[in-house]
Order: sequence, then structure tokens, then C-alpha cells
Amino acid sequence: MAALPEKVTIIEVGPRDGLQNEKESVPTATKLAFIGKLVEAGLKHIEATSFVSPKAVPQLADAMEVARGLPAAPGVTFSALAPNEKGLDRAIESGIRRIAVFTAASESFTKKNINMTIAESLAVFAPVVSKALAAGLSVRGYVSTSFVCLYEGDIAKEKVLDVSQRLLDMGVDEVAISDTIGAASPKDVFDTVGFVLQRIPRDKIALHFHDTYGTALANVLAGLQLGIATFDASAGGLGGCPYAPGASGNLATEDLVYMLDRMGIATGVQLDKLVEASTLIASRLNRRLPSRQWQRLNRA
Ligand code: COA
Ligand code: ZN
Repeated sequence: MAALPEKVTIIEVGPRDGLQNEKESVPTATKLAFIGKLVEAGLKHIEATSFVSPKAVPQLADAMEVARGLPAAPGVTFSALAPNEKGLDRAIESGIRRIAVFTAASESFTKKNINMTIAESLAVFAPVVSKALAAGLSVRGYVSTSFVCLYEGDIAKEKVLDVSQRLLDMGVDEVAISDTIGAASPKDVFDTVGFVLQRIPRDKIALHFHDTYGTALANVLAGLQLGIATFDASAGGLGGCPYAPGASGNLATEDLVYMLDRMGIATGVQLDKLVEASTLIASRLNRRLPSRQWQRLNRA
């Protein structure tokens, strides 16, 4: 246990990855109230929305209003996805200070998700990242489907390293190695992330797990054992990806916080406040949420 990180940074992706895949569209005011409660819970990194095509993701068509309505929260970094120059321009106009570009380690998924090959996506991102950095924004890069792809099966670790390295070479400061369909096991994490870490420093890597098969927390432990200290999670376990059918919610932030608290690893997040944030969304979506901690504290 001595080798595990003493503290972990949680990137809260519920307002983006979570809400983008909910059938019910959530009103802008509710999204902002949700985000406000996430801030109150102590989350310091919140992915608030996406400047993508509103036809591709209608749930986040109000990105401009959400970004402009974000609370003044010193010490909190809000970010938004931006897949191309148009997205970046909207992001800059909205005042948000951090964007994320997103490609994948699987060609088929990239094509379905953003209608580009991986190489095309990297060619589109290069000027977007330069322009963002020149405008004083910071940039995160996602490598979706880094372990298993619905269309292509097992993903080669060499591909994950290659795409991650190219994103870092462009100037992103963090790469989120992502299990978009939630099918990875700890062995996949040791193999793929362990391989990536031979070339890329661990402080440049975040891990993004979904919990479709119930392996997300086990995968976090594998990541911790590799020395990774940044994990994405979604309040209540909201989420999925509209372009990855069958993908269920992200790892629930509550469940991650509970486990890390219990392990003595600091997160700065207050579990009871976080549950309040999720409850606000649950009542709007009119359904129970997958998070175990949320369910424990909200018995039907
Ligand atoms: N913001 C708003 N609108 C955008 C946009 C952006 N960032 N990028 C493109 N559009 C609009 C274009 O203006 C165009 O509109 P029109 O039909 O009214 O003329 C339309 O979207 C199509 O644009 P095009 O450049 O031909 O892109 P495309 O159809 O090949 O789609 C993406 C490419 C990347 C824009 C689109 O696939 C997308 O937004 N995907 C996001 C998927 C996602 O968020 N997945 C979840 C994250 S894992
Ligand atoms: Zn995701």
C-alpha cells in the first residue's frame, strides 16, 4: 500500500459525459444547479459541457449558456469538449479556459463518433490545440476505446501509446486513456497503461473508466498501483456515449470517493454533498442512479 498515491485528482465528467447520454434533456438551469452543487462538494475539475455539433449531441446544445452561466469558483477549473475549430471558437467566446479534444485508439469508433479517421482527427486537432494555447487556454486529450472497442475488439497497446504521444506532442497537458465501453479489466490496465508509462510520465496520464461490466473500481486500483493519480468519474454514475451503444454510465464519483476515503487517499470531495448533487439530477431524470453510495443513501 505504501506505493499508492497519497492524493487523487478527480475530474468530474457528469455534466458532460453523464448528461450527453441521458434520454431526458436537462434544462440549462438544472445543469447549472447541478454544477453548483458539484463545486460545493469540493470538486476542483469539472467538465461542464461540449462544444460539438448540436445535431450530434442535442443534450448539450446549450453549451454556450451553460459555460456562460458557470459559477465564479476560485480554484475550480471548468472544461468543455471541442472537436474542431468551430468548437474552439465557441469555447473561447463562452469564456471557458480549458478544452478537451477527443480521438480514439480504434478507427471504427473514431469514424462513428466524429466522422474522421484517427489521422484526420489529429490533423484537425493540431491547429485547434495551437490556437487554444495561444489564446491562453489549456487542453486535455482523450483517447477513447483504449482497451476494447465494440467494433474492433481488443485494442493494441502500441496504438494507445502512439495516439497519446501525438496528442502530447501537440501540446495537450494530459491524456485521458479511456475505457469508453466499460469492458476493460485490471489486466488490460496493467498491460496497456503499464506499456504507455514506459514512454510517458505518469503525471500526464488520467484514466477514464465506465462501469458497464462492474470492473471500474478494480481498474482504478490497477491504475493506482501503476502510480496514476488522476481519475475521471461521473456523479451518480450518470452517462455513457451515444456513439458506443451498450456503454453504460461512468464510474460513479461517489463510489470512487468512498473507496479512496476508506484507503486514506485524499480527494478533497465531501461524499454527502456529492450525493446531494446527484439527487438533484436524479429527481429531474426521474430515475434512480447506478452509484452504490447514492443508492445506499437514497433507499427507495
Ligand atoms: N459546434 C457546433 N456545430 C458544429 C461544430 C461544432 N463544434 N462542428 C460542426 N458543426 C456543425 C457544422 O456547422 C455543420 O452544420 P450544418 O449541417 O448546419 O451546416 C454540421 O455540424 C456538420 O459539420 P461537419 O464539419 O460536416 O462535421 P461532421 O458532420 O463530419 O461532424 C463533428 C463532425 C466532429 C462536428 C461531429 O461528429 C460531432 O460534433 N461529434 C461529437 C460527438 C461527441 O460529442 N461524442 C461524445 C464524446 S465521446
Ligand atoms: Zn466516457
